[in-house]
Amino acid sequence: MPISRKVADQIGRASWIRRMFEEGRALKARVGDENVYDFSLGNPIVEPPDEFFEALEAVAQDRAPGMHRYMTNVGFEETRQAVADKYALETGLDYTAAHIVMSVGAAGAINVTLKTILNEGEEVILFAPYFAEYEFYVDNHGGVPKVVRTDSTFDLDVEALAAAVGPKTRAVLLNSPNNPSGRVYGHGAIEAMARVLKKKQRELGTAIYVVSDEPYKALLYEDIDVPAVATYYENSIVCTSHSKDLGLPGERIGHIAVSPQAADGAELVNGMAFAIRTLGFVNAPALLQRIVAQVLDCTVDIDFYRRNRDTLYTELRGLGFEMQRPEGAFFLFPKTPTDDDVGFVRALQKHHILTVPGTGFGTPGYFRISYSVERDMLERSLPVWARAARELGIEPKTPKR
Ligand SMILES: Cc1ncc(COP(=O)(O)O)c(C=O)c1O
Repeated sequence: MPISRKVADQIGRASWIRRMFEEGRALKARVGDENVYDFSLGNPIVEPPDEFFEALEAVAQDRAPGMHRYMTNVGFEETRQAVADKYALETGLDYTAAHIVMSVGAAGAINVTLKTILNEGEEVILFAPYFAEYEFYVDNHGGVPKVVRTDSTFDLDVEALAAAVGPKTRAVLLNSPNNPSGRVYGHGAIEAMARVLKKKQRELGTAIYVVSDEPYKALLYEDIDVPAVATYYENSIVCTSHSKDLGLPGERIGHIAVSPQAADGAELVNGMAFAIRTLGFVNAPALLQRIVAQVLDCTVDIDFYRRNRDTLYTELRGLGFEMQRPEGAFFLFPKTPTDDDVGFVRALQKHHILTVPGTGFGTPGYFRISYSVERDMLERSLPVWARAARELGIEPKTPKR
């Protein structure tokens, strides 16, 4: 076998995801793209804002020497300072360039962080539902994922968290707004989590880091904000990217922000500089670092996602699907009628509707619908959803008059 047993095993564990993707592709080839309603992909569909293209053109014209050379592994000083200024404004904390590491997307940021902090066999707490790749990221660096459930509204369950933290706990990996639930953990939840973790740090005599994965932070649809974890908890590290807020997932640009209040923060950043180099990223893309420094306050057109969310949420609830109203990101996460979410997703496939089972996010009994989709496809899918719901025994809760 050309690939390692471990990689083969990991591919095997995720193989039904690949199988469903392949089946979706085969379906499109058989019946035509226009007859398949694909809600399975989390690919940001809204194009980057005009300001991005203006900055791109300006940077492309710049022939100053050194624009495309190696730099310090943590990134350009000016970009890191611009990012730090934003955090300082948001949190009132003393962020400087020294707290920022530019990264290759949020995925790169999380891997660099985990490589930096994990000793072999240490545990990383994940709140279910969680982004499926986390399990592999933790394993990449010798860690062990420990899954903690959330409550019935997908909010943090701090009692379950307290029960899960032990001497091996090194980090809590948090994602808000959440993929797949759309939940934003509020100020109360973050404060309660911080209280538990501070107490555990004291009792256990260990450092426990909160790694806050925030790529959907700007994609918010309610009148709420995403609490800055660093204002509640000292040992916090933000990992994020511009994949969703600027619509640049293919460009692979993000950053890490270590709280100015984290213990031994300079050492952490030093470790991250080593990790980004030796993981083979070396540094975040130079061109993109120059561009994002100019457009940190811009976002894609969030109303596009809001409109899709409102339509699908209202229509599917009307058909009898049970779900929480998502507050951010671009996913709905309804219940399946039985615990067999894989079977349910396959049944939807027969109606040419593609979604992802909750099992893929550590939460069987649910399925994920991405509403980062073309409006036209969404609208054409509505009668198909209605037919599928009827045939799969899903009933409206209150009969229509
Ligand atoms: C929760 C979450 N974290 C991290 C990532 C990876 O983001 P990036 O493309 O910026 O690496 C994704 C991508 O979909 C995600 O949903």
